[in-house]
Parts: sequence; structure tokens; C-alpha cells
Amino acid sequence: MTQHDSIQATREELLARFETLGRKADILKAPELKRLFAIIPSLEPSERASFGQAINELSRELKQLVAGSGTVADELPAIDVTAPFDANYTLPGLLPREQGSKHPLMQEIERLSDIFGRMGFVIEQSREIDDQYHMFETLNFPKGHPARDDYDTFMTVETDADGEPLIAPAHTSTMQHRVLKKYRTNLEKDEAIAAVVPDRVFRNEDLDARHEHTFYQLEGVYVAKGVHAGMLVATLQKFLEEYYGKSLNVRVNPFYFPFTEPSFEFALSCPFCDQKGCSVCSHEGWIELLGCGMIHPNVLRAAGIDPTVYTGFAWGCGVDRLVMMKYAIEDVRHFHSAKLDFLRQF
Ligand code: DAH
Repeated sequence: MTQHDSIQATREELLARFETLGRKADILKAPELKRLFAIIPSLEPSERASFGQAINELSRELKQLVAGSGTVADELPAIDVTAPFDANYTLPGLLPREQGSKHPLMQEIERLSDIFGRMGFVIEQSREIDDQYHMFETLNFPKGHPARDDYDTFMTVETDADGEPLIAPAHTSTMQHRVLKKYRTNLEKDEAIAAVVPDRVFRNEDLDARHEHTFYQLEGVYVAKGVHAGMLVATLQKFLEEYYGKSLNVRVNPFYFPFTEPSFEFALSCPFCDQKGCSVCSHEGWIELLGCGMIHPNVLRAAGIDPTVYTGFAWGCGVDRLVMMKYAIEDVRHFHSAKLDFLRQF
């Protein structure tokens, strides 16, 4: 049997099957068709063109038959939207799990969590809908505080018990109050409260290469007796050196956040060019990376911790930026683009 005979035989088989199919479009996924295409590379170059053409013709013929057999929507089964969502439902067309991979941001969040785990921090999760009490009040932003305007995010129509709209958290600091309360008993045992929260946050942003409306932050909280700002700087420097795998210089400048006093903006020497100047650091040698400070006494007090006995530090760091700097990723929008070319590099 010649190669062309095998196409002819397959054609007859597929035409017969087409008549019997409930969903006509399934004929285009026939394994026989794939097998024919797979033969092409093994053929002599002289045979390839005519064989390839013949398969393309068959494929075109099948597509025309499908197109003439009614609209795709007609053939798809109706979806019962009243049915409860079945978490175990798997679409037959999805890639097998072995062919997928973890999203680069998830891989990096695991690395970050691992570093902090080794430094003695527990890992907590945030939430994607929260209330204004955790977003503002517990963080020393009373109602009407002007700094609330710096955290413009999305709100729901539903309201909380105070009649305030629920909110998509604009920072992971929403978890500070919960973490302080949850681990408050550590302090009585002379142990520190040490937790990090790597999770998703939302802002009403104009999108560009450096801004996304949905991104990740890593919040850190550390409270014990005698904690001072030197410990904050040392902790962050050690963490960044572990993550980037090299020695770094760090710098703090005064800043303002309602929930820390004093507050700082923390910068590190560019891990890319070692302060020689490059496009990652806009030729400055330094990169402003995160906000941090000593936890405000009002925040400790709101969680039932006596600020005259205990002190602590906290920070909030953009994860996407950290990862972009590690791999010289030029546009934050790649992360959510679902472009395989990008994702396969990780
Ligand atoms: N939540 C702040 C932001 O997103 C960042 C931040 C600053 C977090 C200081 C902190 C902190 O925990 O102490 O802008």
C-alpha cells in the first residue's frame, strides 16, 4: 500500500465515522488524522510535498463538512447553570497534569516562603475579600484619614456589619491584626510572633509595564520584647541576600505609613548590575523595594498587646517586582498574559 493509499483509506474511514458522530466537530480531532501528519517528517523529501498536500486536502474537506453541519453552538450540549459547581469536574480537553507546570509566581512564592520558614517565620494566607475594619481601622487609619486615599481598590455592593462596602484588599497588611491576635499567646511563652503572608492584592491602577491591578505582596510581622529597627534591617537584608544569592547593600529612608512609627522606605543595591547602573535600576544603582517600620503602638494595642512591654516590626514587599528583578522581566503584565512562550522559560 502506498502512502497515498493510506490517506485514501483513512478518508473513507473518517467519512463513515462522521455520519455517526453526535458532535460533528470531533472528527477534526481523530487520532488517524494526527497519525497521518506525524508520518510527514519520516518521508523522503521528494515525497513530502505531495503527501502533505493530500493530507491538507483531507483536513480541509473535513472542516468544510463540519462547517456545513450546523453551528458549533448548536452542537454543544446546553449548560445547566442551576447545577451546583462540581469541583471534581475535569474537561476532557485539558492538558494532562504532567505537561503543565507551576506558574512562575507560585514557584517564587514557594522559594520566598521557604527562606522565611528557615528564618523561623510561619506562613499565613490572606483573603481576597475583606472588610474596612481590617483594611484601615485596625491599622490606625481612622475614618476620614487622608492616607486611605492611597489605597484605591475595588469594592463590592454587599456591605459588612457596619454598613461599609466589602473591599478587595489593596495590601496584605489587612492580615496584621489577625496575625497579632492569633499568635498573641506566643508572647506569654516568651516566644516571638513571627509570620509572613504572601498573597494576592488589588489596586485600581492604570496598567502599564510596572503596574497591574492584581499582584502579590509579602507581608511580614515580628513582635517580641526589645525588638528594634536594626533587627528589621538585618532581617530584610538577610532575606534578600538569600533570595538573590549574593551580598547586597541596603538603605533605609524615612517615610510615612499610619501603621508604623517610625516608617521607612527600604532600598537595596541593584542585584543586577551591583550598583554599576543598568536599566533594571534606572541607572541609579539602588532600587526602592518595600515599605516597613516599627509597628505603631495603636496597632499593637488594638490586638491586645501592651506596647510598653513588646515592640515589633513589619514590612510589605511587592512579590512581582522582586521576581521581575531576579529574572530581568521587563513587563509585569507577562505574569497574567497566559503566554506559553513566557511561562515555559521557568
Ligand atoms: N501596606 C503597605 C503598602 O502596601 C506596605 C507596608 C508598609 C507594609 C509598612 C507594612 C509596613 O507592614 O510596616 O503600601
